[in-house]
Amino acid sequence: MTDVFTGKIAVVTGGTSGIGYAVAEELLKRGATVWVIGSRQESVEKAKVSFAAYTNARFAAVDVRNNAAVEKMVQDCVQKDGRLDYLFNNAGISQKNPYEESTLDDWKEMIDINLWGVIYGINAALPVMRAQKSGHIINTSSVAALFGTPYQSLYVTTKNAVIGLTDCLYYEYLPLNIVFTAVCPGDVATPIFKGRIPEGAVPVEVAARIILDGVAQKERMVVFPEFMREVLEKCKDPVFRDMAHKQAEADTRAIFESPEYRKFKAAQKNLR
Ligand SMILES: NC(=O)c1ccc[n+]([C@@H]2O[C@H](COP(=O)([O-])OP(=O)(O)OC[C@H]3O[C@@H](n4cnc5c(N)ncnc54)[C@H](OP(=O)(O)O)[C@@H]3O)[C@@H](O)[C@H]2O)c1
Repeated sequence: MTDVFTGKIAVVTGGTSGIGYAVAEELLKRGATVWVIGSRQESVEKAKVSFAAYTNARFAAVDVRNNAAVEKMVQDCVQKDGRLDYLFNNAGISQKNPYEESTLDDWKEMIDINLWGVIYGINAALPVMRAQKSGHIINTSSVAALFGTPYQSLYVTTKNAVIGLTDCLYYEYLPLNIVFTAVCPGDVATPIFKGRIPEGAVPVEVAARIILDGVAQKERMVVFPEFMREVLEKCKDPVFRDMAHKQAEADTRAIFESPEYRKFKAAQKNLR
């Protein structure tokens, strides 16, 4: 049986690490041509080495904060491969700190990467997909956006916006045969956690398969893991919701107060 991704052309931003890397690898295995995008030349070079066996892999360093660079990324893809079937707007950064410790520069960086990066990607891909009368844009949000997570206000603001944007466009572009999907992962074991992977985090390979199953089914929203869907369902009960949020707040505060975390923050400050 031919896989739905065989012979298709895909661009994966944030394809050099974590979820994006695993999605790119799975797409390559299934016979898609994949443009693996990272922001740093160094991470792109590393990905080139790891994916050396795949002749269907392409690489580019593109900072998604740069609209002209994102437009060029899509143009290069179409020029070389003739079309663009899937755009995964996956590149993103995270944040976990008390609201009052966040600076306006932190806000700007978060919005520029997590939201403007997605908008630039959509704007670059739409004319191509309109012309070819088909396409699929997959925007990575987070379960955190559906849960209202304490100490992640900047991150959740951008990820909520990504869900809103994707939802609107899903219905706007269905008649044009252009599909939009919002991906909302719970914890996935990736470098985004800077070595402090949460217990029970989903392995990246599993995450990639769940995401691609949802994309193949043209789902509007892909939420995983399963137990997070159960938690979200239970959160419809205000008593449960209150307890869950208080627990999340206490758990995160305990992390902030741990000597290990303080050491990490001090080292981070010294690096700046
Ligand atoms: N891991 C989780 O538990 C989890 C849960 C929910 C949602 N998510 C979302 O899933 C996406 C991927 O996360 P991940 O955990 O796989 O993170 P990751 O391992 O840290 O990878 C992040 C990727 O984004 C790229 N990137 C960062 N800034 C960029 C920029 N300005 N321009 C272009 N690329 C940039 C990085 O490339 P360089 O290294 O070259 O900069 C890297 O390839 C993010 O949107 C994240 O918010 C993750």
